[in-house]
Amino acid sequence: MMAFHPPEAYGELNEGVSRVLFSADEIAIKVGELGQQISADYDGRFPLLVGVLNGVVPFMADLLRAITIPVEVDYLAIASYSAETRERGLVRLEKDLDETIKNRHILFVEDMVDTGLTLNYLLRNLRAREPASIEVCALFSKPRRRLIELPIKYKGFDLPDRFVVGYGLDYRGKYRNLPFVGLLKPEIFQP
Ligand code: IMP
Repeated sequence: MMAFHPPEAYGELNEGVSRVLFSADEIAIKVGELGQQISADYDGRFPLLVGVLNGVVPFMADLLRAITIPVEVDYLAIASYSAETRERGLVRLEKDLDETIKNRHILFVEDMVDTGLTLNYLLRNLRAREPASIEVCALFSKPRRRLIELPIKYKGFDLPDRFVVGYGLDYRGKYRNLPFVGLLKPEIFQP
């Protein structure tokens, strides 16, 4: 397992965090379990893992290596709109998939499902391309914030309705490189 630095080594970034919710070790154990489950369920189906840049990068990198069967990976990028714009179901694709997904088994990999609006839009978009199947794997979920119910087949952790950072999750572009996930201090976070 990759040895990360202790939280104090992250200086300013660590000081922005009021409480660690999930340590790097706890995340690694959970990702290992998800990888095992996915390997068993998808054996013989050569799934295509699809992620949304940039937040999913650390999770995807670790999940890929926790999966022991042949898989492919591809990425989408979306324009970051305001929450208000998202609520109207508007998500603009900045980068589409490189792969054709018709008749493929798609596993949509998400770092965080919050309201579910972004994921709902993207799933609708991908379903229209007639994949053989499509399921969701999300490391974090905030069930109390959900506006649209979505089936998450592989889920890491449920979170309270609080803003968190680390392990790919950012606040204004920062904190993605923390190896743990924690609550951001209220004096830093301005919704
Ligand atoms: P939603 O499910 O459409 O509301 O949007 C989910 C996206 O909002 C995630 O992919 C994150 O980019 C972002 N997001 C939601 N909650 C958090 C958080 O606590 N920290 C960092 N980003 C978050």
